[in-house]
This record gives sequence, C-alpha cells and structure tokens, in this order.
Amino acid sequence: MEELRGLSLVEVREGSVRFYVPEAEALRRRRGPSTARLPVFYNPAMESNRDLAVVFLKAVGKTHRVKRVCEPMAGCGIRGVRFAVETEVEWVALNDLNPKAAALTKLNVEKAGVEGKTAVFNLDAEELLCKFSAPGRRFDFVDLDPYGSPSPYLDSCFRAVRRGGFLAVTATDTATLCGVNQKACLRKYGAKPLKTEYCHELAVRILVGAAVRLAARRDLALKPLFTYSTDHYVRVYLQMFKGARKADEVLSMLGFLYHCPRCLSRQTIRGLKLPHPAVKCSECGFSMEAAGPLWLGSLWHPETVEAMEAELSRVKIGRLKEARSLLEKVKLEMEVDVPGYYTVDRLAEVLHSPPTSPVRLVKALRKAGFQVSLTHFTPQGVRTDASAKALKEVLAGLS
Ligand SMILES: C[S@@+](CC[C@H](N)C(=O)[O-])C[C@H]1O[C@@H](n2cnc3c(N)ncnc32)[C@H](O)[C@@H]1O
Ligand SMILES: [Zn+2]
Repeated sequence: MEELRGLSLVEVREGSVRFYVPEAEALRRRRGPSTARLPVFYNPAMESNRDLAVVFLKAVGKTHRVKRVCEPMAGCGIRGVRFAVETEVEWVALNDLNPKAAALTKLNVEKAGVEGKTAVFNLDAEELLCKFSAPGRRFDFVDLDPYGSPSPYLDSCFRAVRRGGFLAVTATDTATLCGVNQKACLRKYGAKPLKTEYCHELAVRILVGAAVRLAARRDLALKPLFTYSTDHYVRVYLQMFKGARKADEVLSMLGFLYHCPRCLSRQTIRGLKLPHPAVKCSECGFSMEAAGPLWLGSLWHPETVEAMEAELSRVKIGRLKEARSLLEKVKLEMEVDVPGYYTVDRLAEVLHSPPTSPVRLVKALRKAGFQVSLTHFTPQGVRTDASAKALKEVLAGLS
C-alpha cells in the first residue's frame, strides 16, 4: 500500500489478535512521551480499555441487538479488529482521518482475516457518522476514542447510534475535566469543574452531564451503564433512548454538587440553575464551592456490570488482570450510590483526625451502620452515605 511506504512496522499481539503497529524504534526516535506523534496511533497502555470494550459488547450482545458497530477514530484498527474477531458483531466500520492509519487498518483487517465483516474508511469522523445517520443505517454501538476531548464529536455520534443502541466515549482531557483549566471545561463541557480530592468522579459526572444535555436537544435520553476513570482517561458507556419525556427524566438527574472546603461536607442540588445567593454548608456554615451542572444519578447499571463480570470470567482474551480488578471494585462501589467519595489523606488533613487506612475506615463506618465501600477512583478513597460530621466522629473513635 502506497501510504505505508517507508513505514517500518512491527507485529504485536493483543487479546486474540496479532497485528502491525509502527515499529517501536520509530516510536522511540520520534517522541517524547507522546504516542500522538507516531505516524499511526497505537497505545499499548490502552489495552485494558479495549479489553473492557470487548467485554461490554459481548455482555450487552447477550440481551440486545449489537450487530453493526463503528469505530470512527480507529488509529491502527486494533480495537475494531478485536470487535470483529472476539465478539459476535456482524459488521464493523473502522475509520481514521489519517490516510496512513486507514491503510494500516486495512492491512490489520486482512491479517486478521475479517475483510468480510469490516469496512475501512478514510474520512473525517463526523463525515463518516453523518453517512450512517439515517434510520436503518445507524450503528448498534459506536466507540468514540479521540485525542483529548470527545465533546466536539458527541452530537455526530448521537445521530449515528440507533435508538436503544450504545455509545462508549473516552476522554483523555482529564486535567480539563478535573478543574486544572476551568475555562476549557466551561468551553468543552459547559460546566464548572472543581479541584477536589474526588475530582476524577466529578470529571465522569461532568462528561455524562454534558452528553445528557447535548442529547436532550434531539429528544434523546442517555443512561450511563458503566463508567470509570484511570490516571489518564475517563470512560463512559451509555445507552441511548428516543423520547422527549425520557429526555426530561434524565435531565432531572442533573444538578450541582456543593463542596465545603472547611469541613469537607457535600450537598447536591438538582436542577440546572445555580442557586443564588451562594449555598452555605449545613454543617459548619461556611460558603460552599460548586461544581456542575453534572450528572447526579447512578454511574453504573448493576445488571450491565454483573453481565460484564460474568463475561470476563468466561473469556480467555488478553491479560485482563486490570479489567478484572476494576470490575471487582466497581461492583462493590455501585452499591453505595452517593456522589463524592472521601480520601483518608484529606480527611486527616482537614479534619485533623489521626491518619488511618481506607480498609480500617470502611470497617469502622460499616460497624457504625453506614453504607460504605472502597472506590475504584483512588486507593485512598472511601465512598459512604455518612455525613462529614459522622465521619469525623467515627474517625475520632479510631484513634
Ligand atoms: C486516540 S487515537 C485512536 C486509538 C484507537 N481507537 C485505539 O483504540 O487504538 C485517535 C485517532 O483519531 C484520529 N483522528 C483525529 N481527528 C480525527 C477526525 N476528525 N476524524 C477521524 N479521525 C481522526 C487520529 O488520526 C488517531 O488515529
Ligand atoms: Zn462545612
């Protein structure tokens, strides 16, 4: 292929697929740490992200129609090729704007022997999604995996996902979502972030909230099925439904989260209007800081998480250790449906309580009758329905 001339390739394995990526030497020569500078994108660190996407497809495919899927930003094509090889989907559209990426994807499709159930495109993602936006042509599942923010592409995805279908979104602009750059967060997501110890959870909630608001303009309702964050990205799996009333219902799950910097108390207020005057902490009277609008509903759909876990115990693909450990944590965490986890470091720092371990704090809170779990967001975190005041008392009892 003309586009691949001069590109040195190396064969690697991921899941049950062997495929070509730009040679590691080329990678080392060209970059600092950024894989974005590769002639064709490939990031081995995202393997567990792809593992989970495979597991999700297999899990929801048991109960829903998941036949036509699309990867509008495919890089070297590994994700879409894995969908074609490792799941029961019937047809995968793989696309990338970079001609070298599209050519390498074609090569990888041939290597995996899935030409009959795939099509490779070299278009702008929005152009591709637009081609498939008419009823009857839409996809059952779209996996959006861009550089940085997915926000500019969300609306095109909504057009191309069939009603009742699924959308997975990766956001790697975690600094923006976590409040390092407030202006960018307002611009991309129309929301105010907050740099707190639970900013990674707020990041997920801001992303879901922005998607819900955007989809509502088309009378579409989004339901989060599975969400998580790592140090480098945030990922959400959503199901999409048609209907103004349904869209109104999910919109009512948006609102603001208020955080008290003095006593760590949190308060949530549903609705899209910022209350005025500012909210005072109900526990210490201090002025609270707001984040939002963001999603205040559940981040996980228990049946989906359980189906994914069951699928994971059946499949023998890839390394899967990371995916397994994440699902185990989420399964416990989703039982405590309260926004905003605490971290033991911050509790000790702000409440001047003796330092303790998250496991010890979980045990003590459980003994005191509260709902509580560890969180996948951070090893230091504890999610609980105990108020900040109750937490302080339980912590005092631990000393
Ligand atoms: C993060 S990489 C995708 C990685 C891939 N999904 C995987 O799992 O390995 C983002 C890709 O989007 C492509 N891209 C960037 N802007 C695009 C656009 N407007 N339309 C289509 N592809 C685009 C880039 O060339 C790059 O290959
Ligand atoms: Zn307070």
